[in-house]
Amino acid sequence: MKTSNNLIHCLFFFFFYLLIFILSSSFPLYLAATPPHRPTSIAFATWLRSSYAFDIYSLPTKGPPIEIRLTDGKSVNYNGHFLPNHSLIYVTERDGSPYIYLDSLYHSQKLRRSISEVSTDSDRFQVLLAGDGKTLSMKDKPSLVGQNLIHVSTHEDPGLPRASWTAVYSTQLTTGLTRRLTPKGLADFSPAVSPSGVWTATASYGEKVWQGEVEELGTDIYVFLTRDGSHRIKVVDHGGWPSWVDDSTFYFHRRCGDGWWSVFRAVLTIKSGEIDVKSVVTQRVTKPGLHAFTPAASVANKSFIAVATRRPGSEFRHIELYDVVLNKFTDLTRSISPNAHHFNPFISPNSTRVGYHKCRGSTNDVKSTNDLLLENIRSPIPNISLFRVDGSFPSYSSDGERIAYVKLPTEPLAYVEQPGLFVMNSDGSGVRNVLNGTAFATSWDWKRKGVVYTSVGPIFAGESSNVDIISIDVDEEKLSYKTLTIGGKNNAFPSPSPNGKWVVFRSGRSGHKNLYVMDALNGERGRLYRLTEGPWTDTMCNWSPDGEWIAFSSDREDPGSGSYDLFKIHPNGTGLQKVIQSGSGGRVNHPWFSPDGKYIVFASDYAAVSGEPIANSHHFQPYGDIFVIKSDGSGIRRLTHNSYEDGTPAWSPKYLSPHDAEWPNHGLHCTFEDNHWLNIGTDQRSDSFISQCDHKKVS
Ligand SMILES: *[C@@H]1O[C@H](CO)[C@@H](O)[C@H](O)[C@H]1NC(C)=O
Ligand SMILES: *[C@@H]1O[C@H](CO)[C@@H](O)[C@H](O)[C@H]1NC(C)=O
Ligand SMILES: *[C@@H]1O[C@H](CO)[C@@H](O)[C@H](O)[C@H]1NC(C)=O
Ligand SMILES: *[C@@H]1O[C@H](CO)[C@@H](O)[C@H](O)[C@H]1NC(C)=O
Ligand SMILES: *[C@@H]1O[C@H](CO)[C@@H](O)[C@H](O)[C@H]1NC(C)=O
Ligand SMILES: *[C@@H]1O[C@H](CO)[C@@H](O)[C@H](O)[C@H]1NC(C)=O
Repeated sequence: MKTSNNLIHCLFFFFFYLLIFILSSSFPLYLAATPPHRPTSIAFATWLRSSYAFDIYSLPTKGPPIEIRLTDGKSVNYNGHFLPNHSLIYVTERDGSPYIYLDSLYHSQKLRRSISEVSTDSDRFQVLLAGDGKTLSMKDKPSLVGQNLIHVSTHEDPGLPRASWTAVYSTQLTTGLTRRLTPKGLADFSPAVSPSGVWTATASYGEKVWQGEVEELGTDIYVFLTRDGSHRIKVVDHGGWPSWVDDSTFYFHRRCGDGWWSVFRAVLTIKSGEIDVKSVVTQRVTKPGLHAFTPAASVANKSFIAVATRRPGSEFRHIELYDVVLNKFTDLTRSISPNAHHFNPFISPNSTRVGYHKCRGSTNDVKSTNDLLLENIRSPIPNISLFRVDGSFPSYSSDGERIAYVKLPTEPLAYVEQPGLFVMNSDGSGVRNVLNGTAFATSWDWKRKGVVYTSVGPIFAGESSNVDIISIDVDEEKLSYKTLTIGGKNNAFPSPSPNGKWVVFRSGRSGHKNLYVMDALNGERGRLYRLTEGPWTDTMCNWSPDGEWIAFSSDREDPGSGSYDLFKIHPNGTGLQKVIQSGSGGRVNHPWFSPDGKYIVFASDYAAVSGEPIANSHHFQPYGDIFVIKSDGSGIRRLTHNSYEDGTPAWSPKYLSPHDAEWPNHGLHCTFEDNHWLNIGTDQRSDSFISQCDHKKVS
């Protein structure tokens, strides 16, 4: 009796501890790593992405300026590089995900022809070199060394908030084997391989930390062996975008103390295979008076380089040649397309042509396939389909059948007549304008089908700005607008409760933006109570589908700093919890609960920047990416990997199968702007990374 009792005792404890072990080890891991089980969808917005339609073009360095389009006019193609055999490798965003392609041109009977000389697509031979359809970023210019593709990728999480995921990799094309060349924990941008293939130069933070920079990153230039990433050494303090002329000389750019972005040359001394860091000589090449950046060296003719410029009096970014012997610029693209932006030049192996990318809308030789109202993005989480909506603040109706979104006055009105609020079916059909004027933040009532809430008035405005919350029943034959708030003290970001009775919103009525709850039907005239109170900003609120929580973004830990953390609170004002903070000084914005309430999607700078912002067009927040987290704050997952600005995500209660939808009325507009901080005369010079640069002439 006693023995068996003991045995039972032992067995009990054995299983008890086994259970504890299972719960404590695998269960939390399972919680952290497993995405929602029921398939759902998320929509988000990417600032100006529908305007990009980039293709790679080339022009001869001498003779009649006959421009040739090198890429196929599909998707968004950019950051090209010529191979020694004149093939082109470049980044393309087919299916919304980045891939690296190689294009060669074969003539059916005759000899192989160079891609730099063919203007038709008929002989094109396209090879996919890298990219597995996942939403990682491979945006910087790729290079090929033998059978090894040298490229950047963001597929590895450094495990720290506000650290860039961009690193340099070498992928063996024959086996697909990929090797990381950037040391673990560091980030590298804009890698360039030397002509012999031996060295790679890259812009890197090294051990420094990203501090939120969106203009110049303040990187240094490091050089390492392309073979295995070894012999890594800092060769230039403060610089980016290296481009080699020969195995001991490269050009790069930096912003100088006089305010001008300028091109520099660095000459290395290499003694028995080792770089002598102490004898590196750097020299300013382009003079003050204009911005010259993203240099491309010319290997076959060392007397010139190609650069992108912004000149006083011009809003446009152009490609120019710069004769480094005569110190003279020669315009290349201004005569061809004066009112277009041209990016990131590269030079052909025999220095006879210059490649660059620009929006193909300025030449009407191809039908666009990029004017997408709804673009499916390959999702890294199997049960979540992901859609980019060409409009801000998308939100799904409670049955998932419809989407509301806005067009802001700051967005180019390519496809709509004026800013306002729009609704459409979730497949992108039946677009309908339901409100004219400035509106932002949309949400749908859970019970009253067709009722959409929004805030009307200026966005990014102060506490007392005239913004009020309205509801519209878009199913009514004659649209009527019901104003729910009174007094217009920046009442915005309405989110209704799942029982249909309440709406939570932020208001500046007390002099600070805090959260309030009002009657959904009759607005604050019906009932109103204050949910949060303090001398800070609480905003971007979202009511959980189970009714238990309200998630919101707040700068309460450092009011006015621009740093926002994600919090949640019960609708009765109890249970305040911080869900996630993006490191020190970071941003977590626009939270939205999953349909089961267990996850929250949001926009954040959690993964810092994925490339040098100067190599791209203007983005206010190039660090914006979309993330998902468990609502207890664990298990963060990155959904997008962009050097664009991704934001305002919303979760659909229903799974929508992956698909694209084109705008009903076609036409490319290319209505994007160059980096505002390159504007001459209005330069804010907010960055701390400004070097004193010598003004000596190049000898
Ligand atoms: C996806 O959802 C289905 C149920 O709809 C579930 O059986 C499956 O396990 C989920 N997959 C993942 C990876 O969560
Ligand atoms: C050029 O070189 C690349 C890389 O070695 C190769 O894949 C491609 O087929 C070549 N193209 C031509 C036209 O020879
Ligand atoms: C090299 O480039 C310079 C500057 O553009 C030009 O004057 C010279 O003719 C070029 N040399 C050759 C051999 O093409
Ligand atoms: C440069 O290369 C192109 C493509 O191979 C070729 O057609 C052209 O003749 C070359 N030009 C010179 C000056 O070598
Ligand atoms: C918005 O303005 C346009 C142009 O004036 C008009 O056609 C349209 O009916 C307006 N939309 C609404 C919802 O009032
Ligand atoms: C507040 O709401 C939460 C969640 O609904 C609930 O658990 C809690 O008991 C409520 N507290 C009070 C004081 O009503």
